[in-house]
Amino acid sequence: MSAHPPQQIPRRQWLATCAGAALLPFAQASAAQRDITLRFSHVVTEDTPKGRAASRFKALVEARSSGRITVQVFPDGQLYGDHDEMQALQLGAVDMVAPSLSKFGRIGLPEFELFDLPFLFEDLSEVRRVTLGALGQRLFNGLKRQGLVGLGFFDNGFKQMSANRPLLAPTDFAGLRMRVQASRVIADQMRALGARPVTLAFSETRRALATGVVDGTENPVSNFWTQGMHQVQSDLSLTNHGYLGYAVVTNQRFWEHLQADDRELINQALQEALEDARQIADVQNEAALAALRRSNTTRIHRLSAGQRVRLQQAVLPVHQALARRIGPDWFQALQDALAQPSA
Ligand code: LMR
Repeated sequence: MSAHPPQQIPRRQWLATCAGAALLPFAQASAAQRDITLRFSHVVTEDTPKGRAASRFKALVEARSSGRITVQVFPDGQLYGDHDEMQALQLGAVDMVAPSLSKFGRIGLPEFELFDLPFLFEDLSEVRRVTLGALGQRLFNGLKRQGLVGLGFFDNGFKQMSANRPLLAPTDFAGLRMRVQASRVIADQMRALGARPVTLAFSETRRALATGVVDGTENPVSNFWTQGMHQVQSDLSLTNHGYLGYAVVTNQRFWEHLQADDRELINQALQEALEDARQIADVQNEAALAALRRSNTTRIHRLSAGQRVRLQQAVLPVHQALARRIGPDWFQALQDALAQPSA
C-alpha cells in the first residue's frame, strides 16, 4: 500500500482503510484464537483423584464452551513423566500439568517441600488451612520466577509405606532401598528411618519394585492400587505419615494470551473440578483400600499409638533440616496457617 493517499480517495476514507488493513491480521488472529486446544498432561491413571479431576475439568470446559475449547488429557505419563513434564510446560509443549507438591523443589522452589514433612498434618482440613490461605498464595507467587502460574491446590491424601515386610518401627526400615519422589525432605525422611532413598519417576516405580531395584515405597493407596503395586509388594503399613497433594500449574505466556472471558471460563471450571476432587480424595483412597483387601495379595498393617510415636521421633531431624534450608520464616508462616480456624 502506498504511503500517500491516492488523489481519488478522500483522506478520511483512506485513513480508515489503512487502519482497517492494519488491524486485519490481529482481527484474524483473535478470530483464529477462538478455537482452543488445551493439553493437560499428568502421570497417574484416570481412576485416581488427579485423573478424576482432569476428566471433570475437561467435561466442564467443553460443555460450557460448546466444544469451542477442547481439553486433551494425557494420563499415566503417556506424554511426559516426572522428569520432563515441568520443562514441557515451560517450553509450551503442554499447557497444564498437576505435579505433586514434592516435585517443585527441583525447579528451585524448595519451600513446597513443607508439605512433605512427615507427621505434619493430622487431617485434610489442616492441609486446607495452608493451601487455601495466605501461605498457599505466597507459594504460588514464587512460581512466577519460573514463568508459571499456579491455579489451584488439591489433594490425593495421606501416604502409606509398602515393602515385602511390615514397616511399623524404624528398625523395620534398616537397609531397605525405598523409592522416593524427587524431594530432599522425603529422601531425608527415609534416611532418618534407616532406609536408603532412591529417587525414581513415578512411571518407573512398579517395574523397579517388581525387579528388586528397590524394596519398597510410599504412596496413598489409590496410587498403590491403580499402578498394580500390590502385585509386587506383600505388605502395606497404614502409617499415614505424610501428605501427597498437587498444584495445577500453567504456562504464564499461555495464560496471559487467552482472551479474558476464556481465561475466566477455564479457571472457573478448574476451581469446580478441584473442589470436587477435594471432596472425593478420601473416598477414592478408601475404595482403593477396600479393593486391595478383596484382592488378598497384600497384608495390611495398622500402627499402634506407640509405634506412631516412635516413627515420629525418628523423623524429627527432617523438620530441622528443612528449616535450615528454607529459613524459619516459612515455618512461622506454616505455624500461623495451622493456627487458623478451619476453612
Ligand atoms: C509419585 O510420584 O509418587 C506421585 O507424585 C505421583 C502422583 O502424581 O500422584
